[in-house]
Amino acid sequence: MTSKGWASFTKESQKCVSCHKSATSFVVKEWKKSKHSKNGVGCYECHGTTKNNPAAYKHMGLIISTLVTPEQCARCHPGVVKE
Ligand code: HEC
Ligand code: HEC
Ligand code: HEC
Repeated sequence: MTSKGWASFTKESQKCVSCHKSATSFVVKEWKKSKHSKNGVGCYECHGTTKNNPAAYKHMGLIISTLVTPEQCARCHPGVVKE
């Protein structure tokens, strides 16, 4: 959780977390420990995508992909190629 708390996450990501706490508690635990959660980067910031992405699918009313490509990381990390 960031210093600004829950409100610093997008509405979309708040939705993901509130359900995934039970749907995939392991993923949420790992995320909570990460620098991403401490810097306001939520699930949707990585998994969110558009219909143009061939890996996109509709999940609980939002368009996401399970696969997170290096291009999506590069939005925030110019130069990151792999992880
Ligand atoms: C109302 C509950 C709910 C909400 C809201 C929700 N999910 Fe899920 N999600 C699930 C369930 C249940 C599964 C299936 C879990 C499993 O396979 O064990 C799942 C699966 C997934 C998967 C894995 C799909 C796969 O093919 O392996 C991803 C990635 C995912 N969710 C991301 C998100 C993201 C990102 C958000 C927010 C935009 C979100 N979810 C919102 C319940 C939810
Ligand atoms: C920094 C980017 C990032 C953030 C933030 C993030 N994820 Fe992921 N997520 C990934 C990547 C990368 C993968 C691995 C995809 C792959 O294996 O191709 C993944 C995989 C997953 C999977 C599939 C796990 C599996 O083993 O099948 C689920 C479910 C998931 N994430 C849900 C979430 C949820 C819920 C949140 C928020 C609590 C979240 N993610 C936050 C990048 C992220
Ligand atoms: C929405 C913006 C955003 C996205 C998308 C994003 N990140 Fe990050 N990432 C951040 C921020 C912010 C930090 C914290 C930077 C800091 O600590 O100075 C960070 C930190 C990291 C770190 C350092 C973590 C540590 O514990 O030292 C790694 C590694 C990383 N990101 C990898 C990734 C990968 C891989 C992806 C794609 C799957 C990704 N990020 C997607 C914003 C993002």
